[in-house]
Amino acid sequence: MANRTTLLKPTHGNIEECAQALRLGKLVAFPTETVFGLGAAVSSLDGIRNIFAAKGRPENHPLIAHVAPHARLDGWVAEVTPTMQRLMDAFWPGPLTLVVPKGPNMPLEVTGGQHSVGIRCPSHPVAIELLKAVGVPVAAPSANRFGKVSPTRASHVLQELDGRIAYVLDGDIPAVGIESTIVSLLKPTPAILRPGAITAEQIEQVLGVAVQRHAEALQATDAPRVSGALEKHYSPDAKVLVLPASAMGEVACEQPTLIVGWGEAFLDEISEVQLRSRVKPMLLALAPHAEQVAQQLYLILRKADEDGYAQLIVEEPDPVPAWEGVADRLRRASA
Ligand code: TXA
Ligand code: MG
Repeated sequence: MANRTTLLKPTHGNIEECAQALRLGKLVAFPTETVFGLGAAVSSLDGIRNIFAAKGRPENHPLIAHVAPHARLDGWVAEVTPTMQRLMDAFWPGPLTLVVPKGPNMPLEVTGGQHSVGIRCPSHPVAIELLKAVGVPVAAPSANRFGKVSPTRASHVLQELDGRIAYVLDGDIPAVGIESTIVSLLKPTPAILRPGAITAEQIEQVLGVAVQRHAEALQATDAPRVSGALEKHYSPDAKVLVLPASAMGEVACEQPTLIVGWGEAFLDEISEVQLRSRVKPMLLALAPHAEQVAQQLYLILRKADEDGYAQLIVEEPDPVPAWEGVADRLRRASA
């Protein structure tokens, strides 16, 4: 394992250096449009094993293989079916991971011993340039320690992985802010294994068939191993409470508390909280748009810890498709 981690600006020369390091089995964290990934080339089994060691992640948890736009997939996946092709055409490059039968060249070390592989083509320009330069898929989980909040800044990667990986490539702030939607194509009905910015409804529009929602997919007895499906995940140290705005007026804060919301009801209720509380809570009012909340969500979870809050109270999102990704991450952060 590396003893020193170098933070690099995403210049062409530095990206080339990182691609070379990846080919040699080293670990490189890089920005994607969702969160930072912790990469190893799938051609290096040492590199792949190092991912699990650096993250402290169980080895039977599969990794997502990242590919450049229009990369040849033969050998890595068993077959590009018409369904897979349609989703790739509609959503790649972008925040959609497809779980499909793996090809003979995809190592079982990447897939956690399963015969399926999660594959995705990110849209972040730094990720694309890096993937093109490496020339083979790059396995990359989110660049955080197991169970912790995914990083949306290079500095957050360093906080958790400094000294454990060779390089961190810096890059623009992720546009999405939460991890990709994962859809399984292993059964006749596509199934959402992890909700994200691309919704089941959008996938249905492209495919013209019903897609199994995340809640139902979790009930399936043969549900695949997805660490993002663990009940407690994405957790800050602060205690997280998710409450409808209408219930916030009832909260009395006895310890340092950060309260986050976005609706009009939230703004009405918070003055009540301030009146009732012994310790004046810190308030953060966000714009009421799912995309913007998603973008800031992990920053806020981290801020709660950095600023020493014992408690983080977040407004419960409406149960509508656009908010499903945010609602899912909040549910796990508060589990
Ligand atoms: O947005 C993202 O997907 C980010 C960026 C870096 O691309 N990556 C990410 O990776 O979130 P990770 O490892 O933190 O989460 C990947 C999820 C895991 O929960 C894993 O179990 C699931 O994908 N996964 C990967 N391959 C799978 C497979 N063959 N079957 C079922 N789930 C799979
Ligand atoms: Mg993760």
